[in-house]
Amino acid sequence: MLENMKNMLNCAKNGKYAVAQFNINNLEWTRFILEECQANNSPVILGVSEGAARYMGGYKTVFGLVKNLMEYLNITIPVALHLDHGSSYEVCVEAIDAGFTSVMIDASKYDLATNIEITKKVVDYAHPRNVTVEGEIGHIGGNEDGVNGGILYAEVNDCVEYCTKTDLDFLAPALGSVHGPYKGEPVLAFDRMSEIKEKTNLPLVLHGGSGIYDDQIRQAIECGICKLNINTELQQAWTLGVREKLNTDANVYDPRKVIKAGEANIKQAIKAKLELLKTINIASNN
Ligand code: 13P
Repeated sequence: MLENMKNMLNCAKNGKYAVAQFNINNLEWTRFILEECQANNSPVILGVSEGAARYMGGYKTVFGLVKNLMEYLNITIPVALHLDHGSSYEVCVEAIDAGFTSVMIDASKYDLATNIEITKKVVDYAHPRNVTVEGEIGHIGGNEDGVNGGILYAEVNDCVEYCTKTDLDFLAPALGSVHGPYKGEPVLAFDRMSEIKEKTNLPLVLHGGSGIYDDQIRQAIECGICKLNINTELQQAWTLGVREKLNTDANVYDPRKVIKAGEANIKQAIKAKLELLKTINIASNN
């Protein structure tokens, strides 16, 4: 069932597990993710970045794709369709109007007061429409920032002020993770994570979930993480399968066969994450 993230992440918070956000890129990825999560009776969040939405033909196209695939595949697990890193109020409104059930407003590049102002505006638009909102404090680094650079760790007091003044549903505090492959060791601020969890009492989100060690992910769940975002690891797993196919089968030319060559790898990677996050077989309890 397509729903917002409220129930999913509140159940995760109470049950001490985390729901995976897997980012989607096209029809096949959406299908692979839905099928594998359904097979494991696990709730799932489909993350869509602005770039991915443009690539797939806009928010309405993505919504139609997800809705119709779910119907066609008889998907009964809880599924949220979530805008990942919405960069403005207008983009969030566009996704909500297209049918997305959840949005992230990422105004973390602005000062705290401006971040609060923009986030509150998104919350005020989203909540009456039954759409949940995630927001970011600090700055989660990425490849574009250099060697694990660009990380600006979230301050506890900023998180409290941000959550209180915006009434948002889920907080993504930057605590050392980066988007894309790590160019060193991930260094997560677990103590601060726990403190933010205690003081905000909201389900926390960890971005940059690829390349973080399993033990760190388990510890992060202990410290309040209820949602883990994963993109790069699935891309790498899928590409490995496709590359092998192209390297070993000089006669293949059917795009369906080429794309399918990554299916087993991607599904294996999904299952491993669901096991780690402890969401297998919990969908019917939600
Ligand atoms: P990775 O690409 O590092 O898995 O991060 C995904 C993410 O955080 C999307 O918001």
